[in-house]
Amino acid sequence: MSTANPGSGEDARRIARPAPDPFLFRPISLRGVTARNRIMLSPLCEYSAEEGMPNDWHLVHLGARAVGGAGIVCVEATHVSPEGRITPHCLGLWNAAQRDALARIAAFVAKQGAVPAIQLAHAGRKGSVTRPWEGTRPIPPEAGGWQTLAPSALPFLPHHPPPRAMTRADIAEVTGQFARSAALAREAGFAILELHAAHGYLLHSFLSPLSNRREDEYGGSLQNRARFLLEVVAAVRAEWPAERPLFVRLSCTEWVEGGLTLSDAIEIARLLQATGGVDVIDCSSGGGDARQRIRPFPGYQVPFAEAIRREVGIATAAVGLITTPEMAEEILANGRADLIVMGRKLMADPHWPLKAARALHAEVAWPVQYERASLT
Ligand SMILES: Cc1cc2nc3c(=O)[nH]c(=O)nc-3n(C[C@H](O)[C@H](O)[C@H](O)COP(=O)(O)O)c2cc1C
Repeated sequence: MSTANPGSGEDARRIARPAPDPFLFRPISLRGVTARNRIMLSPLCEYSAEEGMPNDWHLVHLGARAVGGAGIVCVEATHVSPEGRITPHCLGLWNAAQRDALARIAAFVAKQGAVPAIQLAHAGRKGSVTRPWEGTRPIPPEAGGWQTLAPSALPFLPHHPPPRAMTRADIAEVTGQFARSAALAREAGFAILELHAAHGYLLHSFLSPLSNRREDEYGGSLQNRARFLLEVVAAVRAEWPAERPLFVRLSCTEWVEGGLTLSDAIEIARLLQATGGVDVIDCSSGGGDARQRIRPFPGYQVPFAEAIRREVGIATAAVGLITTPEMAEEILANGRADLIVMGRKLMADPHWPLKAARALHAEVAWPVQYERASLT
């Protein structure tokens, strides 16, 4: 019999309140990989590489978020060829030196208890530009710029040099580059691979009827516009081990008349699910057309993750202005997504997951080196 404050109601309260088990801190298993919680660092271009090589900046950026308690730490858009980069300072994964430098980062992230993930990308017609803080200006060939590639020879902005419409041989070559990068990512020790098929980059530009005006089997119907992405998924899956999950990031609406809509995204997700090779749809939006009009508000993209999860029956990741533990918890508790992906909030506060655990009363161990900070 308890002797604590008899008659005070304390015992009853103890019995009534179950041990907190917030959804945000429940582990998730996908294929053979288990993440300690549902928080993933969103891929965030740092524009800080030389020759595609990661350096100490990338180790600290990604390592700090692993130390801070994220379940999955995803490397920024990492490009499959030099011409596939957005800027000359983007990460790449087309050679052994890049693989080995990334392996060090993947190992450090894993040692902190987070799952190391990497996003593979090709910038397409949005490539060959300066960094955002340099104005995102097209780089002319004499200054080191390159010929960009796209489904059709339509520039992203009127003052940009036109991309070259890809031939079938180009499509096969880029598909092979994605497969090569997937093999290198496997060797580097990444456990999750994400394909970047959003934000107007090459794979997205094939999906969109606004940028894809082809008249061959890669254009026209949604099935045809998705062909390149599906071929890339198949080629990547052949190199990516069956026990490691594959995510695809989609722009679930283009926010512009005539562009992709949520119902198109649902169809694309169905096609991806039918391959049997894709495990999670990471639900973003926009970036494909400069005329887009977006008014972002907290959780503005969550309805896309919710609809795709419900309609297709595939796991989804919600991203976009998810900033509080309560909001993240609501999304998971109501079955609106399986993962919470965070960019800017985690950029500003690498220890957000540890603080969120405290706010939601989850028992999460701080790194031993930082244990004394857990009491502050
Ligand atoms: C500086 C910066 C770099 C980004 N780089 C990438 C990227 O490499 N790949 C990608 O898919 N999205 C990228 N994004 C988009 C983010 O991953 C994320 O989807 C977006 O910021 C919305 O989430 P948030 O509100 O939590 O930041 C970037 C965003 C920012 C602000």
